[in-house]
Amino acid sequence: MTEPDYRLLGSQFVALVGDETDTLANACNFVGLLHSAIDDINWLGIYVLRGDELVLGPFQGKPACVRIPLGSGVCGTAAATLQTQRIPDVHAFPGHIVCDTDSKSELVVPLIVGDDLIAVLDIDSPSPDRFSAADQAGIELLCKLFCEALPGSGPDNFI
Ligand code: SME
Repeated sequence: MTEPDYRLLGSQFVALVGDETDTLANACNFVGLLHSAIDDINWLGIYVLRGDELVLGPFQGKPACVRIPLGSGVCGTAAATLQTQRIPDVHAFPGHIVCDTDSKSELVVPLIVGDDLIAVLDIDSPSPDRFSAADQAGIELLCKLFCEALPGSGPDNFI
């Protein structure tokens, strides 16, 4: 599958943000832009770090589980390790949390401002092994731009 032009998407996101400083609004447009540009996905959204768990934030897709403890599932693992999780087969991932039974592969990128984890971006696909290394690099670039667009640092500063 051909990857979207992630650099162009980055420019579009920066233009969408403009001088807007409302994090919730910018997060909603980030999710909307990516969801409309990335093919073959069934869920895309943000889980926000609140205390020692992740809580459902802006998303596109079916209703999903609201709270994920750090270290649980693909999202909690990305949050606990601060490492992107690119999972070709979610059913082979120990502790994978099923929110949408259509999901077969998943990409989760930690969103980090300064030294602080603030959230994760979660993308699910109904196709196995949907996300390439190039997708991962492009989506990590977009996540970096998103974090740079936030008005301040610190986990209490998100939404
Ligand atoms: N599958 C995720 C849970 C979130 S849903 O996919 C929206 C996980 O294992 O963390």
